Amino acid sequence: MGKLLKGIDIREHGSKSTGATNVLRTLGKWPASVVLLIDVLKGAAAIIFADRFYPWLCTLPSFSPPSALDLQNQQAWTPWAVFLAGLAALLGHSRPIWLNFKGGKSVATGFGLLLAIAWPVGLGAVTVFGVVLAIFRIVSLGSILAALTAIALICGLEQPLPYRLLVIAGGLYVIIRHRANIQRLLAGTEPQLGKATRN
Ligand code: G3P
Repeated sequence: MGKLLKGIDIREHGSKSTGATNVLRTLGKWPASVVLLIDVLKGAAAIIFADRFYPWLCTLPSFSPPSALDLQNQQAWTPWAVFLAGLAALLGHSRPIWLNFKGGKSVATGFGLLLAIAWPVGLGAVTVFGVVLAIFRIVSLGSILAALTAIALICGLEQPLPYRLLVIAGGLYVIIRHRANIQRLLAGTEPQLGKATRN
């Protein structure tokens, strides 16, 4: 998108992430808003698609109405299809084949995914993100604490096992993707929003 708009390859600027935060610091508010929206929709779409597509796929071979057992199997396996689709969305976002495996940190995609599988968890995570951002003005800190919040909340809610595993694995993955940010946070060199960019 940066290439299209201004001839800029976002992977060569700032944190080199293709996520909305780096787009904001490199290209400005409007491109960042578009990236944010698309990334959130990507996460939500993966979940909604798997949730609808898997049961439809199950009906294909027979062309006859599914039996009670078929329906039972569908219900049991659909959450696992959602689990795989969610993981694929997170990995695909952060390690896209068409960008030499250099993508974002899966925060916005993870948020979209959370909204689609357990919106109260998404709401809790985004609230923590907003509060941390308002106080410290550091996006990565907000993202890491939001991921931890999502993990804590999903463990306390009645949810299918695959959904829980997805949020726990996804949350840990988001944190691991922030390891360079964590080092800078510990060193006190992580930039605040709107302040000096780093290369
Ligand atoms: O959403 C990613 C954010 O948490 C950190 O991004 O570009 O500052 O490493 P960045």
